[in-house]
Amino acid sequence: MEVIIRPTTESAVKLTATLIADALRAKPNICLGLATGRTMEAVYAELARMHRQEYLDFSLARSFNLDEYIGLGPDNKNSYRYYMNYHLFNNINIDKRNTCLPNGLTDDIEHEGERYEQAIREAGGIDIQLLGIGRDGHIGFNEPLSSLASRTRAKALTPETFAQNSPLFDRPEDMPKRAFTMGVGTILDARNVLMLVTGREKAEILAAAVEGPVTSMISATALQLHPRAVVVADEEAGALLKGREYYDWIFQNEPKWAAYRNI
Ligand code: F6R
Repeated sequence: MEVIIRPTTESAVKLTATLIADALRAKPNICLGLATGRTMEAVYAELARMHRQEYLDFSLARSFNLDEYIGLGPDNKNSYRYYMNYHLFNNINIDKRNTCLPNGLTDDIEHEGERYEQAIREAGGIDIQLLGIGRDGHIGFNEPLSSLASRTRAKALTPETFAQNSPLFDRPEDMPKRAFTMGVGTILDARNVLMLVTGREKAEILAAAVEGPVTSMISATALQLHPRAVVVADEEAGALLKGREYYDWIFQNEPKWAAYRNI
């Protein structure tokens, strides 16, 4: 795992978007794994800006999102399909037929996960998986005790996640209590993972995820098992990391980061 701490939220966001843009330029038919949530909104705004102003071309790209609420359809403004269209897909030139999320309205909840996994396999797997982290350490909606080998499935959300996300609903009580999510094992299958963490309220959980022992109580610790995991944090989120000096040293000295140091 590599940890990069940037002085501001803006530069952490910009670095994350630039890493995705560079991966897309290197492989125009890239398969992106995408996340939702407040942290990602700025990343998608930056990717949309790069599309508008720098001709970043998504025309051959495919995407699979991590998760979707069970019971919400694309027209519901709290569904993740709605979020993705609003924050990214409507603002770039991706072919929406190549963008996939679990089907929150399926009448076959039991088999939706298998169907989704099959679609990811048929697309050749995910090249780069973008992630945020929940206050309880979830990635996707893999709540505490999710098996580190779990696959896409329906999952009951924790009260903490309910408290984190329900204020985004007009009526908080309307937030579904279950969601489809890629599993931790599904996420670990991605060829690269890129997690963005910002804000002081994520500092404790980020330190536990990066420097604590691997445990299914904190799904994000599973990223320690991934051979190509990069975590980008802003100063506030990185405040409690014990290895800070070493992480900075790597960023300043590894040749592969040279092009990114001034972002
Ligand atoms: C959503 C997802 C979640 C979020 C996490 C952080 O697709 O994967 O794991 O990344 O809940 O959400 P924010 O950014 O709103 O703090």
